[in-house]
Amino acid sequence: MSKPTILITGGAGYIGSYVNKFIADKGYPTIVFDNLERGDPKTVVRGEFIKGDIRDTSKIKEIIEKHKVQAILHFAAYIDVGESVAHPIKYYENNVAGTISLLKAALATNIKSFIFSSTAAVYGIPSAPLVSENFPLQPINPYGESKLMVEKILKDISNSSDLKYIALRYFNAAGADPDGEIIVSQKGRHNLIPKTLLSILEKSEICIYGTDYDTPDGTCIRDYIHLHDLATAHLLALEKLLQGGSSSIYNLGNGSGFSVKEVLKKAEEVTGEKLRIRPTGRRAGDPPFLAADSKKAKSELGWNPIYGSLEKIISDSWKTMNSLSVN
Ligand SMILES: NC(=O)c1ccc[n+]([C@@H]2O[C@H](COP(=O)([O-])OP(=O)(O)OC[C@H]3O[C@@H](n4cnc5c(N)ncnc54)[C@H](O)[C@@H]3O)[C@@H](O)[C@H]2O)c1
Repeated sequence: MSKPTILITGGAGYIGSYVNKFIADKGYPTIVFDNLERGDPKTVVRGEFIKGDIRDTSKIKEIIEKHKVQAILHFAAYIDVGESVAHPIKYYENNVAGTISLLKAALATNIKSFIFSSTAAVYGIPSAPLVSENFPLQPINPYGESKLMVEKILKDISNSSDLKYIALRYFNAAGADPDGEIIVSQKGRHNLIPKTLLSILEKSEICIYGTDYDTPDGTCIRDYIHLHDLATAHLLALEKLLQGGSSSIYNLGNGSGFSVKEVLKKAEEVTGEKLRIRPTGRRAGDPPFLAADSKKAKSELGWNPIYGSLEKIISDSWKTMNSLSVN
């Protein structure tokens, strides 16, 4: 029996492009819908690409009807925390109003399965290091607020319609397509790993914000999750809903976390280059340790992340960044 068609918003971006490839390779016809404001059509290596904006409800309705779409994976959003603080309306407009527009199209066309890219930012500064889904939701910036607002909207819609949703709260997405087929530019990304690797390519300094935290080496510990492990979780979540499963929320992270110094040391090992490290003071609002408790995803979805090592995450990122700098 042929598999249902999946609409992937934001599928020309960093995470969506890999998930599109992964889901398509499992036999699902996919339609990638992206306005390309922050994406690259070259990263859409499977399925059909349609350029458009999630705020265009009627265009999405048309696509869903024409292609008989049965489920939506919703990645499209702005993701820069600093930018969200400077331009909150822009974030609420795209991430919240944009999602409402998409949901209007989904409800009008009787879509029943909706997977939402949420974030650890919904927890703000958690009271304990290992964060589970029932921790208080206290975002500290408009980006995190926008994602929490969407989670609330999804809950209300799920209570009043046949649409079921799964919100996946990712910690720091990292790594790259292990096959090296999808090359995503990491320029302008604010995560430690791309910033560190870029500092090598650009021969610039990389800062450590705070070396006196109460952690084994004094630097902050964060949870990095490989794109491939994110993709397997999306497939499991999608199939759960397609099989009639109920709405739910899951954390996705590797659980152990790595310190800033561990990341920098591993980056030097993987690249064979010496970093120009500049230790500076702490940044406001940086908790010493932040990692996901992903037990729920493992037990309920049967999720089994396999690329938890820093070596794999950094070497896959380095391969793609290097190929970009060579081309
Ligand atoms: N990268 C991370 O570490 C991380 C962590 C937690 C959650 N997330 C979430 O995962 C999702 C994907 O993140 P990413 O890192 O791939 O970001 P990205 O910026 O690489 O991809 C987002 C894509 O969405 C598209 N887009 C944005 N607004 C759109 C609109 N109005 N209409 C159509 N397309 C639009 C962009 O052009 C881009 O291709 C986001 O929802 C983000 O909030 C990411």
